Amino acid sequence: MLAEKALELINEAREALKFSRPVYSGFRVGAAALGSSGQIYRGCNFENPSLMMSLCAEKLAILKALSEGEEDIKAVAIVSDSKDYCLPCGSCRQFIFEFAPVADIYTDGKEGIKKYSIFELLPEAFRP
Ligand code: THU
Repeated sequence: MLAEKALELINEAREALKFSRPVYSGFRVGAAALGSSGQIYRGCNFENPSLMMSLCAEKLAILKALSEGEEDIKAVAIVSDSKDYCLPCGSCRQFIFEFAPVADIYTDGKEGIKKYSIFELLPEAFRP
C-alpha cells in the first residue's frame, strides 16, 4: 500500500482515539479499517465494569466495515495515546486472522510507521 494511504489510515485511527472510553485502564486505543470499497471505518476501545465485555478498537473498526458490506479489509491501523507502538492483543490477532486475513496492519511509533501481516503476528494460528 502507498505510504500516503498508510499515513491517512494512521491519522484516522488517531481521530478515533478521542471517542474512546477507557474508564478503567485509562489506555486509549484508536483504529481504522480500510474496506475493499476504499471507505475507511474508525473504531476505539470501550470499557465496561464487566471487564470481559470491553471492546477493542480494531475489532470495532473491522466489524463496522464488514457489517456495512465490505468484502475484505485491505488494511488496519492501530494507535494508542502513548508514543509506543500499539500492536493488537492476542484476542484481536485471532479476530484479524479470521475476519481480515489479507489486511496490512499498521502502527506508528518512535521509528515511524511499521507494517505487519497477521501471519507474522500470529504464526501457526488456530483454525478448526
Ligand atoms: N485494547 C485495544 O483496544 N486493542 C488492543 O489490541 C489492545 C488492547 C484496549 C482494551 C482495553 O480497553 C485497553 O486497551 C487496555 O488493555
